[in-house]
Amino acid sequence: MSPPSALRAVWERSRVEVLAQVDVITAAVTDALTGSLAEQARIGAARDAHKLAGSVGTLGFAVASDHARALEHALAPAHGPSPADLPRLAELAVALGRESRFWRDLVRHDPETRYFNHLYRDVNLDVWLICWLDAQDTGYHDHDLSSGAVYVVEGALCEDYFHRDVGGWINVETRARTAGSVFDFDGSSIHGLRHATGPPASSIHVYSPALWRMGYYEPGEGGLRRTSITYADEMAASGQAHPEAKAAAESAAL
Ligand SMILES: [Fe+2]
Repeated sequence: MSPPSALRAVWERSRVEVLAQVDVITAAVTDALTGSLAEQARIGAARDAHKLAGSVGTLGFAVASDHARALEHALAPAHGPSPADLPRLAELAVALGRESRFWRDLVRHDPETRYFNHLYRDVNLDVWLICWLDAQDTGYHDHDLSSGAVYVVEGALCEDYFHRDVGGWINVETRARTAGSVFDFDGSSIHGLRHATGPPASSIHVYSPALWRMGYYEPGEGGLRRTSITYADEMAASGQAHPEAKAAAESAAL
């Protein structure tokens, strides 16, 4: 089946569901504007906005997908994790990391690129397995609206971050993140992670609310510049498909 006809087939199969999702979201937005949005309706609309963002993005409607993702975030609980919640994210990362049955079979170390595996996602939480080899690195980034925690299950990583010294100069410092260590951060923290060389490394990452946009930092005219990209863009840049795109492609191939 050629790509256009495959996409048309996906659209024909999902049309009724997509339009129903639009109706649910429209009703929720209408209620929100009049201050009458019930909690269950908010949760359902946030879930439908999440599905809609993935499905219309897969069908090539990038602007519609961005709007749906913005609605997903607008319909999410008003407050992301507070600093007091960060230890709970770290506890969750450790608990999942110690249950290797959830991720062990998914570990893959690829000499060409960091390997991502999306273990779980809803509006409030997503969980990733990331596999590292040969000094592979993230570059400097923040996590936009999401707080997070990382548990290193095997191998070792380095976390690079900016530090202002006593003289006021900003330097890069590095923390060693060895197997069994866990660390957390809020959305505005800027860091870079890289494989520390040596044996392959694997790590469990949890984010709340679910990670969508990230800020990447590169030297540019006038200093460091921030570029906002989605995690789907990051996966595509590394040659790995967004999970929802992968599911749709598999569905189209049936
Ligand atoms: Fe990060």
